[in-house]
Amino acid sequence: MIDNVLSFCRPFALDINMGCPVWWMRRLGAGAGLLSEPSRAFSVVESARKTWKGPLFVKIRAGTTAIDISWLLDFCQGLVDSGADVITLHGRTVEERLRREARWDLVLAVREALLVPVIGNGDVRSADQAIRRLQETGAGGIMIGRGVLMDPFVFSRASASLQGRPFKEPTYEDEVSIRLELIDDIAATYEPGRAACRIRKLLPYLLCRFPFARRCALEIGRLKTPAAQRVALHGFLEKFSGQATQVLG
Ligand SMILES: Cc1cc2nc3c(=O)[nH]c(=O)nc-3n(C[C@H](O)[C@H](O)[C@H](O)COP(=O)(O)O)c2cc1C
Repeated sequence: MIDNVLSFCRPFALDINMGCPVWWMRRLGAGAGLLSEPSRAFSVVESARKTWKGPLFVKIRAGTTAIDISWLLDFCQGLVDSGADVITLHGRTVEERLRREARWDLVLAVREALLVPVIGNGDVRSADQAIRRLQETGAGGIMIGRGVLMDPFVFSRASASLQGRPFKEPTYEDEVSIRLELIDDIAATYEPGRAACRIRKLLPYLLCRFPFARRCALEIGRLKTPAAQRVALHGFLEKFSGQATQVLG
C-alpha cells in the first residue's frame, strides 16, 4: 500500500489517520476503527515504518466512547514503540464527533508522557488561540481543520506572531483568490458530482467571514457542478467587493 503511494508522489512525511470517525471507514477496520484494535494499529505503524524511512505521523482521537487516560497513554506509547515519530491528538472521542469542546488537558497529558513531539488538534480558530495552546501544552505543533477554512491565513498570522514579525493583513482580493483556488483544486481532484458536494459542505466555513455568507452558501449549494458554483461564487464576491470581512476573535 505504502509502496503504491510512494510510486506516484514524494511526500515530506506520512500521516496515518486513526482519527476518522466515518462509520464505513471504521467498519472496514480503518480510521478510528483502529483505536478499538490496538495490536492491529501497532502492526500498521510497524509495517509503515519498515517501508518508509521519512517522518511518520499518526493521528488519533482520545478514545472510542469514553476517556480512559491510562488506555490513551498506553496506546500512544505503543504507537511510538511501533515506529511513530509524531502523535497528533484530537481531544475528542469518536462518539463525540465534533460535538463537545476538544480537551486540551489530554494533549498536555500525552505530551508530558511521550518523548516524541505531540501535535494538538481541536477547535483552534485563530492565531492567538493557536499560540496560547502551544504555550499551555508545550505541544510540538497545532493542527487546524475548520479554522483554516474560516481564516485561510491563520497559519501565516500565527507564524508571524511567533517570529515577532509584523503580519501584512490580506486584501479582499487575497481573501477571494485563496478561496477560489481551493475550489479549483477540489474541482481538479474529484469528478464533478463529488466535487460539487465537497464544495457545498465547505462553503459555510469558507464564507463565514463574509457578510453575505448564508445567502451565498444557500444559493451555491443548489448548483450541481463545481463550474457553476465557481461562477456564482465569483459573482457574489465581485458584487460585495470592498466590504470588510469580519475579523475572527
Ligand atoms: C473538511 C475537513 C476535512 C478533513 N479531512 C481530514 C483528513 O483527511 N484527515 C484527518 O486526519 N482529519 C481530517 N479532518 C479532521 C480534522 O483534521 C480535525 O481533526 C477536526 O476537524 C477537528 O479539528 P478542528 O476543530 O480544527 O476542525 C477533516 C476536517 C474537515 C473539516
